Amino acid sequence: MALHPRRQKRKTLLLYEKGFSGGCSILIMGGTKFKLLSLQYYKVFTMSIVFNRKGVYMITYLRNLIFNSPNKLISYAEYIGAALYHPEFGYYMKDKQKIGRLGDFITTSNISDVYGRMMAKWFSYVCETSKLAPVFCEIGAGNGRFAKAFLQEWNESIRTPLHYFIVESSPYHRKLQAELLMPDFSFVQLESLGEIEKFEGMVFSNELFDALPVHVIEKVSGQLYEIMVGFQNNELYEQKVPLTNPAIFSFLEESNIELKEKQRIEIPLAMERMLQEISGVLTRGLVVTADYGYTNKEWMDLLRAKGSLRGYFQHQMMDDVLQNPGEMDITTHIHFDYLIQKGEQFDLEVLSKLRQDEFLLKAGILKELENHYDSNPFSEVSKRNRAIRSLIMPSGMSTYFQVIIQQKGWKLIESDVFDV
Ligand SMILES: C[S@@+](CC[C@H](N)C(=O)[O-])C[C@H]1O[C@@H](n2cnc3c(N)ncnc32)[C@H](O)[C@@H]1O
Repeated sequence: MALHPRRQKRKTLLLYEKGFSGGCSILIMGGTKFKLLSLQYYKVFTMSIVFNRKGVYMITYLRNLIFNSPNKLISYAEYIGAALYHPEFGYYMKDKQKIGRLGDFITTSNISDVYGRMMAKWFSYVCETSKLAPVFCEIGAGNGRFAKAFLQEWNESIRTPLHYFIVESSPYHRKLQAELLMPDFSFVQLESLGEIEKFEGMVFSNELFDALPVHVIEKVSGQLYEIMVGFQNNELYEQKVPLTNPAIFSFLEESNIELKEKQRIEIPLAMERMLQEISGVLTRGLVVTADYGYTNKEWMDLLRAKGSLRGYFQHQMMDDVLQNPGEMDITTHIHFDYLIQKGEQFDLEVLSKLRQDEFLLKAGILKELENHYDSNPFSEVSKRNRAIRSLIMPSGMSTYFQVIIQQKGWKLIESDVFDV
């Protein structure tokens, strides 16, 4: 069983203090001792030491990064970038289940195949009615379950030529996707958007933007500060420094956000780069983004005064994201108004913004329900129907998500893309 995050961190830091050879000697001694008792115990013990040594490498990496940075401080964006995407020790880059019951969090794509299947039908409808080229590009495809459901539906009921691109930065997730999709489905896997030729079609992402690194700022006594991350006494800690980053000032100005006293907020500068890249690969088409987030008005609600930065570890929410870097997911709510406004600067004009349950209803999810009735409550069909209901119930998961559709090089209106 994994250690509780806080205790696990202490152990990691202890090993770090002793150095790697100390860690190894514990491994050998412990391994021998436990091997005499039971092979199973030996295995468990060895694995937990390996797990902790990975944590040691991440802490050492962060310590060096911080000590080599100006004023021995890094921004939260640099910290999150390393904790999630360091090529070797980053959370998303490592071989460890992240999504699903045995992982740290769940996504709509993993609740049921209904989401992917329905999106395939909706995409086919848009291609046919709006004469869009059948090229679908999914960014940040995770374990590939959305892609599998989409491609299965396409092969079974649509059967016209399709190009499916997956752009995924995590080697672990690329491996899972390949295992799930090969050899039955035809798709092209890429590591970054930069590897793709310009195309006409649809770019889709589910919970991609919420996984991008963010800066964090706060207002104290009327002055804006950036919250930086330092390293002292073998601990990561926060330090406020007067805000100087011009890109953050521009973000605040463009978003027309004026922080209240003691308000903290995340600044997603990486969102701009992502939108620019997305627009850059599209000659013409639609960009569909499903994610949780707030409008500028919602950000200013007192309830959100502490911002939205948080971690997820074994389905538990963690307030302190400086704990266990590389071992847990780190996420934030996204800025919807900025996504729309910045998109326009990159020729992505907003076509529609709907709560996910409303989007699913417009895109035809109820047809799935009607077509699959089964009186046996334990059958696969009944399970699927329950999943459909959970996606559209007023208190369900979808009510936290928005689906934003942007268009490039087109003048469609909302009714052009929905069959209602
Ligand atoms: C929160 S997970 C969502 C996974 C999946 N879309 C789902 O709904 O289950 C975010 C995914 O985006 C990937 N990712 C993050 N930044 C990326 C980038 N710049 N390009 C491609 N993939 C990225 C991560 O590796 C991870 O697989």
